[in-house]
Amino acid sequence: MSILHSLSLEIKSKQLELIIVRLSELKAFSGVQEVGLGDGGLIDPPEGYEVLEFGSAAAASFDEHCRKSQGNDDLVRVLLYFELETLNEFSELKAEVGSLLASMKVDISLGLWETLKPEDYLENYKQNSSASEFGDFWVGPPWKEANLRKKYRYVVEPGMAFGTGDHPTTQMCLERLNEIAENEFVVNSFLDLGTGSGVLALHAKRLFPTALAWASDLDPHCAEEFKKTFAMNQQDPASVTVRFGNTAVLSRLRDELKQVDLLISNIYSEVLATLVEDARKLLSPGGIWLISGVLAGKPEQELMDSASKHFQVQERWTQQKLGEEDSWVCLILK
Ligand SMILES: C[S@@+](CC[C@H](N)C(=O)[O-])C[C@H]1O[C@@H](n2cnc3c(N)ncnc32)[C@H](O)[C@@H]1O
Repeated sequence: MSILHSLSLEIKSKQLELIIVRLSELKAFSGVQEVGLGDGGLIDPPEGYEVLEFGSAAAASFDEHCRKSQGNDDLVRVLLYFELETLNEFSELKAEVGSLLASMKVDISLGLWETLKPEDYLENYKQNSSASEFGDFWVGPPWKEANLRKKYRYVVEPGMAFGTGDHPTTQMCLERLNEIAENEFVVNSFLDLGTGSGVLALHAKRLFPTALAWASDLDPHCAEEFKKTFAMNQQDPASVTVRFGNTAVLSRLRDELKQVDLLISNIYSEVLATLVEDARKLLSPGGIWLISGVLAGKPEQELMDSASKHFQVQERWTQQKLGEEDSWVCLILK
């Protein structure tokens, strides 16, 4: 069985990306976890990293973190994981990592190595994944106890897909879905485009049980996570028609779906901007597009420059992520 070692580093936020990218090139590298920033997400090994760049909670939070940390001198603590076949390779690894870090001339204030038993690794991972509570919702991993006072409780295992409930954009979409239902907007069909873990589709299906339900994601890894989310919440994944990977491209989906009353997409604004025309064609007359994943300011402005040709903003909400300055925007477009 392979042996896992962790290296704890305290580094400047702005140097995070450089360090992770360089260290992830090492053969033994097996993951990285941010500690103490609230996410506790894992970034997968290098070959998985590109696939996950747009999708997994960890990769998204990492991207976000890197984007926000340019010029930022804040310290962050990360745990880097390395997997070796034998203990003998450990000293070589330490020397290799040491010289790599030295060659980068970065400021590192902590550099503690630890050899982990598999159960420690799992325990670390669990310790750092927390549940989220907001409004009527509790969303958390299976090993946390749900808050029974919350009306909507969803178990989502942090894994390869975005949508564990800790992100403001997911939270805003969940709450907006409630409002759409409360306002008695008729939803006979919906598509959750970019479903990730499937949590938005799960909630939409609960609110609109008779609707023709669709969910899709370009990232094929989400297929497994989607099934898991539905199963863990005692819902039949077959109650939603899903498309993952190449078959999830919106222009193709349009041929299958024809029209929907509600399109949900929590996807970065740069991507949303490319979907505007297909979204317009996909929506039935009077249909609405619930979007998030948009940062307030320039990204929102740029998105609206393309969207306003076809849509009007019906409502707008914003929410900040703890410890971040920029606000995320959620919009209902009509
Ligand atoms: C920010 S996550 C949202 C996940 C989940 N819906 C939520 O709200 O928490 C965005 C997801 O959209 C997917 N995605 C990105 N561009 C897409 C596109 N053009 N079509 C379908 N899915 C896309 C990504 O793979 C990722 O899983």
